[in-house]
Amino acid sequence: MRCAFGYAAITALSASVAYAAGPTCGPNSPCPESAPCCSQYGQCGVGAYCLGGCDPLFSHSLDSCVPAPACSSQDYKLTGLDGIVADTDYLGDPSTANWVSSGQPVAYDNSVLLTMAPSTVGTLLTSTKYVWYGKVCATLTTSQGAGVVTAFILMSDVKDEIDFEFIGVDTEHTQSNFYWQGVDDYNNELNLSASSTQSQVHTYCFDWQPDTLTWSVDGNNMRTLNKADTWNTTDNVFHYPQTPARIELSLWPAGLSSNGQGTVDWSGGLVNWNSPYMKNGYYYAMFSDVNVQCYDPPSGYNNSGTKSYVYTNNNGLNTSVSTTNELDILGSFYATGENPSFGAQPSGSGSSTASAPTPSNSNVQTVPGSDGAGSRGASGGSQGGSSGGSNSGSGSGSSGTSSAPGSGSTSFSQGTGGSSTSEANIVKTWRTEGGSAFAVVIAMLGLLLL
Ligand SMILES: *[C@@H]1O[C@H](CO)[C@@H](O)[C@H](O)[C@H]1NC(C)=O
Ligand SMILES: *[C@@H]1O[C@H](CO)[C@@H](O)[C@H](O)[C@H]1NC(C)=O
Ligand SMILES: *[C@@H]1O[C@H](CO)[C@@H](O)[C@H](O)[C@H]1NC(C)=O
Ligand SMILES: *[C@@H]1O[C@H](CO)[C@@H](O)[C@H](O)[C@H]1NC(C)=O
Repeated sequence: MRCAFGYAAITALSASVAYAAGPTCGPNSPCPESAPCCSQYGQCGVGAYCLGGCDPLFSHSLDSCVPAPACSSQDYKLTGLDGIVADTDYLGDPSTANWVSSGQPVAYDNSVLLTMAPSTVGTLLTSTKYVWYGKVCATLTTSQGAGVVTAFILMSDVKDEIDFEFIGVDTEHTQSNFYWQGVDDYNNELNLSASSTQSQVHTYCFDWQPDTLTWSVDGNNMRTLNKADTWNTTDNVFHYPQTPARIELSLWPAGLSSNGQGTVDWSGGLVNWNSPYMKNGYYYAMFSDVNVQCYDPPSGYNNSGTKSYVYTNNNGLNTSVSTTNELDILGSFYATGENPSFGAQPSGSGSSTASAPTPSNSNVQTVPGSDGAGSRGASGGSQGGSSGGSNSGSGSGSSGTSSAPGSGSTSFSQGTGGSSTSEANIVKTWRTEGGSAFAVVIAMLGLLLL
């Protein structure tokens, strides 16, 4: 997928302007102590920046990101919005939510629609728990049309990535792909047959084991990758996805003129915002189920508990991951993995006795967020030049433009005009599932140096 850099670069440019005030992070440029967490998009911050997607290797220390909640075998029925919370409301307790959303998920007909209205960058759901090897299946129908991409991927905090992507102009295939630590390799993409993805419900699975990775559609194995075949003779490591990953479900516009031409071309052209493929004013992809069957961590791993995964060294390989019993829930959106209880409201005390800031949802900064831009309820729709969007990254995190899941509508046919409109002017452009988040960071740093 040769587009990766193209779109990454352009959106990253606007992001680098938008976020010039905040420190960026990347290889050899970790976050400062004051804003210790490196988000998936290469921006330093606190709070949500330290939750899912936080890159431990580019953060201030290996403890800056909160521990990643461990895998739990579960059949997540997406028959409604239960278990989905907006990114502006999530402080890291996986017992309170299965999915964190940005954008506008809508309950419809025993399923969840990821919607994409004009001038939005669609909708993203990320799992609150990680998978460190397992069989992960999603049952879905895709959206359709030029520039419109539906995705079901696994993304680790160090940017190992496993993909099913669906380009809206080719509903007879799904694109399988993988990345190791976000390093672009344009030879990993392979088209797999899948009929009428927009109208026929199929189940797409990753069977991710320590030594093999298989993509299947409706139970038919379509592609197998052997770890042994990913050995890289330049750096002498396996370029194989090997670190704990979150599940990401998304619908996003690759076909925006603000994206690189490569991305636009890859996705079949610019998005038509008056398309017959839209209903109720938006594009939609329909997810009804995500099934997770966890495998045991690989033999020889550093076992210090069962509740979470942490990185205990800087190589970002399978051997840098340990399991622990630590599970930090942030006390506030100013807390970090190094100081998780910061800003917590004293429990049981109804009045404001906390000396630390006690943010409400209206001033929460979500990833990647810029001041004022990520605030639900704050000046929604007026972000024009200032936020432009956060670029990048495989979607996760995205900026805090979320509406509450499904707010305003539980019925597809009755439309979500209200909620869509409230987002209409919010231009956020989280990434680019088509390429690696790491590439985005690199591209951004490159542009900053120009
Ligand atoms: C996959 O299919 C798309 C068209 O849908 C095509 O542009 C692309 O080149 C194909 N990729 C490979 C690796 O064959
Ligand atoms: C090996 O890894 C380097 C970067 O780490 C990359 O540039 C190169 O393309 C890789 N080689 C192969 C054969 O994949
Ligand atoms: C890490 O990968 C290496 C190379 O495949 C393997 O020998 C080792 O057992 C793995 N260790 C863990 C903990 O996964
Ligand atoms: C094993 O995990 C524990 C707990 O996270 C950590 O303190 C220790 O350094 C790890 N050991 C190795 C060899 O990674």
